[in-house]
Amino acid sequence: PRFWLVVPAAGIGQRMQADLPKQYLTLNGRFVLDVTLERLLSCGAWAGCVVPLHCDDQWWPASASAGDARIEPCPGGAERADSVLAALKHLQGRAAADDWVLVHDVARPCIHPDDVARLRSTLADDACGGLLAAPVSDTVKEVAPGSDQVLVTRDRRQLWRAFTPQMFRYGDLVAALQRGVCEQPGAITDEASAMEQVGWHPRVVTGRTDNIKITVPEDLALAEFILARQAA
Ligand code: C5P
Repeated sequence: PRFWLVVPAAGIGQRMQADLPKQYLTLNGRFVLDVTLERLLSCGAWAGCVVPLHCDDQWWPASASAGDARIEPCPGGAERADSVLAALKHLQGRAAADDWVLVHDVARPCIHPDDVARLRSTLADDACGGLLAAPVSDTVKEVAPGSDQVLVTRDRRQLWRAFTPQMFRYGDLVAALQRGVCEQPGAITDEASAMEQVGWHPRVVTGRTDNIKITVPEDLALAEFILARQAA
């Protein structure tokens, strides 16, 4: 089987309070999107790379990635799962059902090549696939919606933080996401949760905790620090 890359970049980053979607904010003068794509494409051989974009995206043409023939943009969707599904449909007829797809958030530019390699090699013979993740270090509370009352404390020893890339077979992932976006619109926040909903048990592969997701403005400075430290 071959390996495909899908990098959802159709979010508009409401939490950043910026005029630009977060993938077009800059790290050392380069778009977050360009940093993420360059790092991913540098690790291993890929059959192709699809990047779903927002239909109103005006910044893509100014990115370095727009001039990279290995990268194919396609229209994204309303939610992350819709965008990933659109990218997978873009590959219809080219990707085989048992090819692997690695889905990686464009907002995680600090992805380390060693983590991508370990994910690929650990899961290569797995029936299902899985994701980079790390055990939580904080105690996690479940709070009643719209209130400040703790309902329950989850057993921390069983809790992991889900990162990306997440790696699944093309045919299984299309089927799971199709069902997820139909039956639970808005509730599928990563590929693994779609796979779980249809009965799979994705595997966690311990990933580096510096694989942060740019979410708030302070994260940009942190990402620059992480990138410099990784390069040292
Ligand atoms: O908003 P959040 O940080 O969870 O988004 C995760 C990823 O999903 C980002 O890479 C974002 O660009 C992408 N996304 C997308 N299409 C959407 C919403 C989010 O591709 N409709």
